[in-house]
Amino acid sequence: MTGSTAKLELAGKTHDLKVRSGSIGPDVIDIGALYRDTGAFTFDPGFTSTASCESAITFIDGDAGILLHRGYPIDQLAEHGDFLEVCYLLLYGELPTKAQKDDFDRRITHHTMVHEQMSKFFTGFRRDAHPMAVMCGVVGALSAFYHDSTDISDPYQRMIASMRLIAKMPTIAAMAYKYYKGQPFMYPKNDLNFAANFLHMCFAVPCEEYKVNPVLARAMERIFILHADHEQNASTSTVRLAGSSGANPFACIAAGIACLWGPAHGGANEAALTMLAEIGHVDHIPEYIERAKDKNDPFRLMGFGHRVYKNYDPRAKIMQMTAHEVLGELGIKDDPLLDIAMEMEKIALTDEYFIEKKLYPNVDFYSGITLKALGFPTTMFTVLFAVARTVGWIAQWKEMIEDPHQKIGRPRQLYTGSPERDYVPIAKR
Ligand code: SDX
Repeated sequence: MTGSTAKLELAGKTHDLKVRSGSIGPDVIDIGALYRDTGAFTFDPGFTSTASCESAITFIDGDAGILLHRGYPIDQLAEHGDFLEVCYLLLYGELPTKAQKDDFDRRITHHTMVHEQMSKFFTGFRRDAHPMAVMCGVVGALSAFYHDSTDISDPYQRMIASMRLIAKMPTIAAMAYKYYKGQPFMYPKNDLNFAANFLHMCFAVPCEEYKVNPVLARAMERIFILHADHEQNASTSTVRLAGSSGANPFACIAAGIACLWGPAHGGANEAALTMLAEIGHVDHIPEYIERAKDKNDPFRLMGFGHRVYKNYDPRAKIMQMTAHEVLGELGIKDDPLLDIAMEMEKIALTDEYFIEKKLYPNVDFYSGITLKALGFPTTMFTVLFAVARTVGWIAQWKEMIEDPHQKIGRPRQLYTGSPERDYVPIAKR
């Protein structure tokens, strides 16, 4: 590549392709006119070398293990910020002033209740339905209750829908948990902050006062901050693609939830804890490490590896520290699953296979241990991930909708099927 162009030799012709630089990170080769000029597509299943959009929201340096939200390092935001402050930053690009933060908190707080009719919606599910199945259904149904904020061409309606989604996700998640438990739904309380309100809606019961433990609420806030946004991951790309057709934001977020559920993505936190429980004892770790390395065995270490991080996921470090903090606050002296996780990390990080493939713990490796200690069943882990990631999905959707060059996403393909052929009547087959 020279300066601002790259040269492509194809079928005896040389084509100049524009090279663009971002503010930080890798350059991109603009191939928007490639098919028009050469008649050829690029081919990159899994998008390992493909930038799908221009974005100013989040930046990851996978080799250095750095994660920035609007330029601010995740460890600083997790230590000093609260979740709604990070929401404001992701949505509007700057940290809020005190007045802006107070106004944003007030607006979100006054959207936390859901339409009373929605509580009837839950009764259509079996009590033992996976909470992520409930989330896909109920969040998708929001567009049936909030018609006045589905016109994406209206900036005011886009803003209201965004506030509603950020504010109502914890309420719907708590309702999914209560429905699963067979306990009555708890209404949000306007005098509690985002995480404390969520813990109250999940763990309070009408029969007695429930005091939220401030240490656990702070840990919950931090967990939400760690999961808020992460560039063009699978579920965010799903939301962008759904939104590119003009679908309403409730439907787009429901699509993101469905994608996040996969065990290779947000479902890994549930799968990681299930894996640690299956391993059962530190003595069994070597057997599982060998299985993870065996090409003929589909088993993978859940919570390990990442498409972008080829170094330690900075969120995993903070999550590990939070696990110790929560277990300490709850007086859980030794959690066998944490012992297994710590020992597994130690073994894996010295193993040639993991070193060569640059496989490190990711955000999902320690989160399950913390969430289990907070009292959540494993089936709720990805629900909590979705509650946090909703602001990232919304911020990325907003950035796409406000992009004057935005168009519907429509990838092409490398066709390897049959060339044209004529129909054969069944009697002649
Ligand atoms: C999240 O994209 C994001 O940003 C996602 C996320 C976010 O915040 O949105 O960070 C959240 O989804 C974190 C990832 C959670 N998933 C898991 O923990 C599941 C276990 N991890 C793997 O399935 C895998 O690491 C992925 C899916 C996360 C990444 O897969 P890639 O980038 O497609 O890499 P790959 O599967 O091609 O693996 C490269 C090599 C392969 O070996 P070879 O074919 O080269 O011989 O590493 C091996 C893989 O077999 N490998 C693993 C492994 N992960 C990859 N081997 C054992 N255990 C693992 N966990």
